This record gives sequence, C-alpha cells and structure tokens, in this order.
Amino acid sequence: MSLCHKNPLCGIAFYEPRSLIGEKVRIFDTSLRDGEQTPGVSLTAEEKITIARALDRLGVNVIEAGFPVSSRGEFESVRSIAREGLSSQVCGLSRIIMKDVDASLEAEVDMVHVFVSTSDIQIAHTIKKSREEIVADSARAVEHVKDHGRLCLFSAMDATRTSPLFLKEIFKAVEDAGCDIINIPDTVGVAAPSSFYRLVKEICDSTKGMTVDVHCHNDFGLAVANSLSAVEAGAREVQVTVNGLGERAGNANLAETVMSLHSIFGARTDIRTEYLVETARLVERLTDVKIPLTAPIVGENAFSHESGIHSHGVLERSDTFEPGIMTPEMVGHRRRIVLGKHTGRHAVKQALEDAGYRPTAEQLQDILERIKELGDKGKQVKDADLQTIAEVVIGDVARGRQAVVLKEVSVMTGNIITPTATVKAMVRGQEKVLANTGVGPVDAAVKAVQGLLDTDTSIRLCEFRIDAISGGADALAEVVIGVEDDRGRRVSARSAREDIVMASVEALVSAINRLLLLEET
Ligand code: KIV
Ligand code: ZN
Repeated sequence: MSLCHKNPLCGIAFYEPRSLIGEKVRIFDTSLRDGEQTPGVSLTAEEKITIARALDRLGVNVIEAGFPVSSRGEFESVRSIAREGLSSQVCGLSRIIMKDVDASLEAEVDMVHVFVSTSDIQIAHTIKKSREEIVADSARAVEHVKDHGRLCLFSAMDATRTSPLFLKEIFKAVEDAGCDIINIPDTVGVAAPSSFYRLVKEICDSTKGMTVDVHCHNDFGLAVANSLSAVEAGAREVQVTVNGLGERAGNANLAETVMSLHSIFGARTDIRTEYLVETARLVERLTDVKIPLTAPIVGENAFSHESGIHSHGVLERSDTFEPGIMTPEMVGHRRRIVLGKHTGRHAVKQALEDAGYRPTAEQLQDILERIKELGDKGKQVKDADLQTIAEVVIGDVARGRQAVVLKEVSVMTGNIITPTATVKAMVRGQEKVLANTGVGPVDAAVKAVQGLLDTDTSIRLCEFRIDAISGGADALAEVVIGVEDDRGRRVSARSAREDIVMASVEALVSAINRLLLLEET
C-alpha cells in the first residue's frame, strides 16, 4: 500500500501497481485493420486517411493501415496513408506468403506485420501445413521484409492456445531471421491476466533481443486488463484500437489502456492524451459505432455527476468522487453536473449561479423540487429547462409583490363531462376559491383564475402560446400568456411544467401580478 502519488499529503491510501514508473510503452494502433474488421464497419479511403491523421496527431507509434493484398482499394488506401509523411510508423498486414509481403512492400509501409496461426486447432483446420513448414515459411517471410530494409513484426496467431514450446521455437526462428518485434496475440480473448502474465514473462525471458508486443481481444471483457498484465510482465508494445473496435467483441481499447498505463502504473507513452476524446468521437462518427454513455474516459458520462452527495463533493474538490490521477482536462473531456432526481442543493445553486441567477434559499428549494419532480419522471434537466424554471421562480414577478398567490388548482375533464377547473388563491391577502368551465381544461382554469379577480379589475387575455421545449410526450411545456388591462397596458409572463394546465395557470397568475404591480405604480 502506498500514498496517492499525485498529492502524497492528501491522505488517500490505496493499493497501487505502480510497478512501471518511467517505463516507455509503444502504442500500436490497429483501428484501420482489426478495427475495420468490426462487423458492419467499412471505411472509404478518405475516411481512413482522416483517421490516420488523427492517430498521428494523437501520437500513436504505429498505425496498422490495412491488409494490402486483400483488394486493390485496400492496397491504394494503405499506400496513400504511407505517403502522408506521418510521424507514426505505417504498417501493413501480410500472411507468411510472398505475394502478401510484396503487396505490403509495394504499399511503401515502414513496417510489415507478418502473421501465421500457431495453435493446433487453427493449423489443422485453416492452414493445413506442418509445424516445420510454418516455422520455415515464417523465417523466410521475415527475411524477405528485412532484405527490403523495413521493420518486421511477427505474430503467432492464437498464441494463447499454442503450445508454449512451439511458441518459443517459432519466435527463436524469426529472431534469427532478423525480426524486430514479436507479437503474442490472444486471438479469441481467452487469456486471464494472471495466466497471460506468466506466458508473456516466459516469452520475454527467452527472447531478449526483440520488443515483445501483445494483441488482446475482448471476448470476456479482459482485453485491457490482459494488455496491462502483459506490460507488467515485460511487453513494451501494445496493440489497441480506438473505442475498442475489432473482430467480435473488439480489441483492447486505446484510451483505457493508455490512461491506465499513465495514471495507474506510472508508465510513459507518446500519446497526447488531451486528444483522446476528440479522436474517439471522430472514429465514432466515421464508423457509426456508438460510444456507450458509460464508456470509461471518453463516454459522455465519464466525468458526469448527478447524486447530491457526489456533486457536492466534486464541487468542493474534484478528486472526492473522481480518480484524481485522471482529470477530464487530461483527456480532453469536461466535468458535468447533471440535474435530475438525485440532485442536491449545491449542484443546483452552482448551476444557477453559472447561469447568472442568485436565488434566495426559498427560491432554490422551489427550483430543486421542480427539478426532482422532472427527475422522478425519468427526465434530465437540460440548460434550457433550468433557465425556464429559474425564470419562473426567480424572474421579475417572483421578485415583486404578488397580488395573487396561487394555492391549489384542480381540473376535471373527459369525454362525458364539461371541463371544469377549481382554483384556490390568496387575492390581496384574502383566500378565494372559484370554479369555472371551459372548452378544455386549460380554458376552464384560465377562466377560473380570471374570475378570482374583483369585478372592478378588468384584465383580458391577449396572448396564449405553448411550446414543448424538451421533446417527448412528457415534455416540459413552456406556456407564454399575455394580458391586457382596460387602459391597453400589456404584459406577458411564462411558465414551464410537464402539466400544461399548471403551466398555463402559473403563467397567467404571473402576468396578472405583473399587470397589477404596474397599475400600482
Ligand atoms: O487477433 C489476431 O490474432 C490478429 C492477428 C493478425 C494479430 O488480429
Ligand atoms: Zn485481432
């Protein structure tokens, strides 16, 4: 156990695997190759170039741009990316077949990624060669790449279901052929962090001259955990994809792997983390694979707080309910206090102050209750909703003296009764109750309110407008009502509620109060 490394005085103690302080890890991005193998994803050459530029700006060390031999279009797009003059190394995938390797070389990549199946199940059912042939062909393919002066990465596909003895044999053969980097793929995502650690350590101990790389699939949701375990075991390159795209359940997620390496393990990469969110959103848009709201680091909710306890804590000091060792600024995100049914006073007060309102304690309580009422109906309160509610509660009418103070409204309506509304209110200090009928519940309620006024107060409705401001059948309705007195003076007021009758009555009462105040002046 050790103390928080960001601020050793903060008193936060936790068990931390900061075993990689200062260690450099290379980030190999395969969004444009394994990521494009995501069922349903297909990118145009222009889209691939756009993503490659974003990955380069993000600072990935390698961009696996595609599988050049697979089609003419794929060849052209890999070559265009290779010709972009990026800082990242550009890599092309090839089987251990000469025509594949030649296609990658002709696509002008910096690195050729040669791969072959090494597990018995894949050898028997897909490539149907002997182990000896596989070793010999792999070594030949690597030599061919090196003869052309390019970097070579060799992958033993399905390594986690391959005999470790055979793995060591084939890695030794490609090392002798001049290979630069060897990759241990968990092709079907069956590794566990502890077993993968042992396998990677064994390979690292037996192959001192080459960088060890890993490629983890997420079939059990362990791709990031396995990649981190591999780095602890000695791997110094990890293959990742933006948003965890890739075959089936995808590959290790770039943002999650990088931020864990930096913030939890203390390792270094060349990633400019402030571009993580922007890059994730670009890839989301171009691939049309949505980032879940709750996705770590780049998800909309990654730094959002709603509960009163959490929001209060975070407003006091952000690391009360955030990791602290990772902030929204670090990854290009923003902190959000979401208003809803779990919201507390502090969060609402802060949101109102940010919007320029200074509510009294009573007004704040009223606004809080209205927000919770909406939250109970499963709605989020957006900025526009908060502003409307604040206007109703803190606006001019609320601040002035009120001739009419609304107490109760009830309506009866249906297809066999005439819509009838009963309104109870204090009118100039005197309690009054009045019922009236109308063509609909809103009309009945408006007439009942008008009836509460003295006969010598002549006020007539001159404007009535309803806007649904937040969508859906249970939308917050904004009602604007204008009233006019017999001297032709007009005022209008607004209110917003889910209940359209209540919104209408509140808007009408506000407008009447404003007009009566005007008459007193
Ligand atoms: O999953 C896998 O094994 C691969 C290889 C090509 C590395 O994608
Ligand atoms: Zn893969």
